[in-house]
Amino acid sequence: MSGCRICGGPVHEFACFGPQPLSDAFVAPGDVGAEYFFRLAVGRCARCRMVQLTEPVPREKMFRHDYPYRSSQSARMRRHFDRTCRALLRDLPGTDPFVVEIGCNDGGLLTAVHAAGVRCLGVDPSVQAAGAAAVRGLRVVTEFFGEETAARVRAAEGPADLIYSANTISHIDDLASVFAGVDRLLAPAGRFVFEDPYLGDVLARSAFDQVIDEHFYFFAVGSVRDAVRRFGFELVDVEALPVHGGEMRFTVARPGRRRPSAAVGAALAREDALGLAEPASLRRLAAGAERVRAELPALLRRLRAEGRVVAGYGATAKSATVTNYCGIGPDLVAFVCDSTPGKQGLLTPGTHIPVRPPEAFADPYPDYAVLFAWNHAEEIMAKERGFRESGGRWIRYVPDVHVV
Ligand code: SAH
Ligand code: TYD
Ligand code: ZN
Repeated sequence: MSGCRICGGPVHEFACFGPQPLSDAFVAPGDVGAEYFFRLAVGRCARCRMVQLTEPVPREKMFRHDYPYRSSQSARMRRHFDRTCRALLRDLPGTDPFVVEIGCNDGGLLTAVHAAGVRCLGVDPSVQAAGAAAVRGLRVVTEFFGEETAARVRAAEGPADLIYSANTISHIDDLASVFAGVDRLLAPAGRFVFEDPYLGDVLARSAFDQVIDEHFYFFAVGSVRDAVRRFGFELVDVEALPVHGGEMRFTVARPGRRRPSAAVGAALAREDALGLAEPASLRRLAAGAERVRAELPALLRRLRAEGRVVAGYGATAKSATVTNYCGIGPDLVAFVCDSTPGKQGLLTPGTHIPVRPPEAFADPYPDYAVLFAWNHAEEIMAKERGFRESGGRWIRYVPDVHVV
């Protein structure tokens, strides 16, 4: 049993996906054999109910200079961030507002903030991703966000009216350091807004592949409300988002500065009625994963025996959990197509499936393709319409294994 990273309470494991590599550490063909593995397991704190990994991976191993993920690979996500920017800017003070983004990556959101003429700054330790943001004219501090960075930014720029973060706060096991930084930097009436995969959606879709090294926490409204209170803040709004397989946007403020919206109470009531963070709900995730492990490799072996060519689409971090847990290597999935330049020409972590550019997909089309980037299904299936038209079929495994 491990200790909760928020309250120190006992964390009871409810699912384990075995030894796993770093989910975004794509391997050069010459470097096979030198990968870092850890035991990937997820549990729930019996005291504060926060769902979390049982063992954090050191952050310097995950978010290195060559961290390959790029926010701007998806057109839908670019639209999401443009919309998000417009919504966020509506609620800023009139004179010279200041916006800080934690985990800005290549600038998916900040590009829109900057274009709107609002003073902004990103914080992201991944040097190449931050470099891509700088090329777009954005200012980025290439560090892990924490109290020290926050104090320096505040001294140089003054307080932030808005601190925003997408798909990053759940990646940081030391949440106390994040809130200490927010406390240093945020203006008295400022907002801290973050959006991350929502526990309710992960469970509803049985999306066990959301469990990766980088996703340390699985936020629920109840657990986040309690955690932010512990750190001296108040949860004042929540909004469900349809992106990345279902997320929740949390708005946090200093206590008493903003009246909590009705959405918070409604979400809490829904979670209670569902028994969302109860052990019985959580154990269903492990059962769903076992079903996929029984069915997906069996389907792929059958197709191989029939002489079919199977490829993958989207060399996602999530697919590391699926392929390593299910034992799916290049013998079952010949290659994976992905639009991210920093992944192409390399091998998938642990399972060593070659990553090829999207152009390789139609050259010639495989018979079947496993949709690893299932959270981008509409965008990818629309883009690759020709695959279906040529008789190709998609294999999906969320919420269960099926062919479409
Ligand atoms: N916000 C983007 C990127 C998410 S990927 C999006 O939603 O698409 C997570 C990013 O967070 C990576 O670029 C990583 O380098 C960064 N990151 C991880 N830990 C961080 C920390 N402690 N402080 C700031 N950024 C961090
Ligand atoms: P994503 O599911 O966003 O995140 P994670 O890696 O955290 O699981 O990753 C989507 C991957 O799919 C990313 O590597 C880019 C790739 N991709 C394509 O190759 N083509 C596309 O049209 C889209 C939308 C994504
Ligand atoms: Zn706890």
